[in-house]
Amino acid sequence: MNASRIHDILKLEPQEQGIRLNGWVRTKRESKSFCFVEVNDGSCMKNLQVIIDASVDGYTDFIGRLATGASVAIEGKLVPSQGKGQKSEVQASMVEVVGDCPGDDYPLQKKHHSFEFLRTIPHLRPRTNTFGAVTRVRNALSFAVHRFFQEQGFVLVHTPIITTSDCEGAGQMFQVTTLPLDEIPKTPEGGVDYSRDFFLKRTGLTVSGQLEGEAYACALGRIYTFGPTFRAEHSNTVRHLSEFYMIEPEAAFFDINDDMDLAEAFLKYVIRFVLDRCPEDMDFFNERIDKTVLSTLDTILSNRFVRMTYTEAIKELEKAKADFEFPVKWGIDLQAEHEKYLTEEVLRKPVILTDYPREIKAFYMKLNDDGKTVRAMDVLVGRLGEIIGGSERETNPDKLTARMAEAGLNEENYKWYLDLRRFGSAPHSGFGLGFERLLLYITGMKNIRDVIPFHRSYQEA
Ligand code: 4AD
Ligand code: MG
Repeated sequence: MNASRIHDILKLEPQEQGIRLNGWVRTKRESKSFCFVEVNDGSCMKNLQVIIDASVDGYTDFIGRLATGASVAIEGKLVPSQGKGQKSEVQASMVEVVGDCPGDDYPLQKKHHSFEFLRTIPHLRPRTNTFGAVTRVRNALSFAVHRFFQEQGFVLVHTPIITTSDCEGAGQMFQVTTLPLDEIPKTPEGGVDYSRDFFLKRTGLTVSGQLEGEAYACALGRIYTFGPTFRAEHSNTVRHLSEFYMIEPEAAFFDINDDMDLAEAFLKYVIRFVLDRCPEDMDFFNERIDKTVLSTLDTILSNRFVRMTYTEAIKELEKAKADFEFPVKWGIDLQAEHEKYLTEEVLRKPVILTDYPREIKAFYMKLNDDGKTVRAMDVLVGRLGEIIGGSERETNPDKLTARMAEAGLNEENYKWYLDLRRFGSAPHSGFGLGFERLLLYITGMKNIRDVIPFHRSYQEA
C-alpha cells in the first residue's frame, strides 16, 4: 500500500479501506488498554491522531519506542473521532517504529523552545510547528514569484555567483580566492599578485545580479533573477543576512514609473497568492507570532502605495515630534527608524520614495536634470522599512563613467557594462527585493535568521 500524506488524509471522510502513513511522533498518551499518538509528516501543520489498541501485533515491543521524534509507519482505518479537535482519526492495525528517538538526548522536547535556542540546532528546528510553517510559506512564496514574472512575460536568467563587479560599489564583497593565505604572492610593488589567483584576477561573491541582468534585459526585454546574494556587511541586526536570496527584475523600455507599478503589482500578487495557498500556516502566524499579520497584509492589498520624493519625506521627518537617534537633514541616508516613522506614523501604508540624493545611492542610477538627485525608488513598509530597492538606470555613457570614477570603481572591469550604453542603448529599470525581508513581513517573524533554512549572518555560520 502506498503511503498517503496527512494533508490529504485529513480531507477524507472516514472510510472502510485501509490507509498507510509515514511520519514522526509528536506526542503520546497512554492508557491501560490503548494509546493515542499524534503523528506529523510535514505536509501540513496539523497532526493526525492515531489510536493504537493494545491488541495490535507487537504492542508491548513498540509502545515504549513511540517517543517524541521517532519515525513511524502506520497502517489502519480512518474512523470518525470520538474526541474533540479532529473529524477523524486512524485506528491502527500495524505500527512499525522505523527510527528510534532516544528521549534523553533529543533536544526538541514537547515544550516551548525559544527561537534563540532553536537557532543553535538549525538541523532540527524544521521539525517544529513554526519552522514547518515558515518553510511551507517560503515555498509558496517562491512559487508565486515565478508565477508572477512568468505570467508577465519575464524570462528567468541565472546570473553568476562568482563575479568581478561590485554592483552596489559598497565594498561589501566576500572575496573568492585559491591563493595560499599563509604565503600570499606579491607584486614587485608589494600588492597582492592576483595574476597568480584562480581566475587571474580578483573576484568575489555577487552582491547583486543586476548588472548581468541588465545585459539580458537589453536583449530579451524583460528578465528576472532569483538567486543567492552575499554581503559582507558587519550589520548585526534582525534584518540583515550575509547570504540571502534576492529577486531582481529588469526591463528595457521601462522608466521609473513603470518600475514602481511593477513593484506594487508584484508585492500584491505574491501576498495574495500566499494567503490563498497557505491559510492554515498564515492563521498560525497571526495567532501565535504576531496578531497584526493578517490585517497588515490586508492594508497592503487594499491600498495604493503612496509615492513621494525623498525631499518630501525629509520635510515630513523634520516636522516630526519623534526623537530620532540619527538627526534628519537633506542628504542623510534614511535609517530604519526614519523609514518606520514614515510608514507607521505618518502614512500608515507602504510608500515608494523616489529621487534620492546621488551621494547616497549606487553609481548606476539615472541622474536627474537637477544634477543632485537620482531616479531611485525604494519601497518602504511598516515594521521593516526598506523591502525593495530599485531605480531607472543611467544610459548616458559619459555620466555613467563619471559616476563610476566617483565611486572609485575600476573602469576596466565595467567595460562590458558601458557597451550596453554604446550599442543600441535603451532606457531600462529594475529593482531588487530581499526574499527573506518579504518573508519576515508576511509571517510576522521578528528575526531574519528565522526565515531561511540555515542562516549565515555576521559572525554566525
Ligand atoms: O537596495 P539593494 O542593495 O539593491 C540592489 O542590490 C540593487 N542591485 C537592486 C536592483 O535594482 N536590481 O538591495 C535590494 C534589497 C533590499 O531592499 C533588501 O530588501 C534586500 O535586498 N537586502 C538584504 N536582505 C537581507 N540581508 C541583507 N544584508 C540585505 N541587503 C539588502
Ligand atoms: Mg537599498
